[in-house]
Amino acid sequence: MTPHEAAEALRWLAEMGADEIIGEEAVNRLAPATVAARVPAAPAVMANPAVPEARHGQAPSTPSQAAACNSLAEIAAALEAFDACPLKKTATRLCYTDGNPAARVMLVGEAPDRDEDIQGKPFAGRSGQLLDRMLAAIGLSREASDRENAVFITNVIFWRPPGNRTPTEAETQMCLPFLLRTIELQKPDMIVCLGAAPAHRLTGRSDGMLKMRGRWTTANVSGRKISLLPTLHPAFLLRQPAQKRLAWRDFLMLRQALDAH
Ligand code: URA
Repeated sequence: MTPHEAAEALRWLAEMGADEIIGEEAVNRLAPATVAARVPAAPAVMANPAVPEARHGQAPSTPSQAAACNSLAEIAAALEAFDACPLKKTATRLCYTDGNPAARVMLVGEAPDRDEDIQGKPFAGRSGQLLDRMLAAIGLSREASDRENAVFITNVIFWRPPGNRTPTEAETQMCLPFLLRTIELQKPDMIVCLGAAPAHRLTGRSDGMLKMRGRWTTANVSGRKISLLPTLHPAFLLRQPAQKRLAWRDFLMLRQALDAH
């Protein structure tokens, strides 16, 4: 490769979102052996009515590992030991949960970004700061010690996708059983979905967020119906501040529902 070709290849990678050094050794992830090693085997689909059935051969999943966990700490340990998800190889660390496990409200986001990858907790960066301000405005906090004022936070995906690319279906299906088991064990009264990925996965619907947001619906997780409110993702609100008024309406709906039940 000439220096010019190398510079072009580097520019292309940067444009594709590979804008961070994640290891000392260069890895050719397009080499056939590497690709084969990274494709997980044994697809198995968790029977859960909240989640649309994955198509045959497309979605390896991990229901038995997740089902074997009987506490959030066990899920965290299982995820630490779980090597099938390719995202784990490029992420800095696991990003599983934050907040108070006793909370009535569980917030579910999409996937860790750069700050979350470094700190290992969901919504640790700029969108998390906005989220914290919005929560504080309705009297909620991830730091609160009482379940009434607390929130518990997790994501659909537990490792940062390289360059923040959209997770593949296979990657999502690997994380999903752990998310569903987290919901089973944490037993929230209400789930707030931040963005389309959690809203779609937990309701089985595929409508746009501007249609779904601000309308209570239910998630059916292992036979338990849980009130679920989709709202706009804080990162979207940072890009489109004019939409904050819609998210504010949703947060007021959440406040009202908490006060009423
Ligand atoms: N965006 C998400 O959806 N989750 C995070 O944890 C951070 C940013």
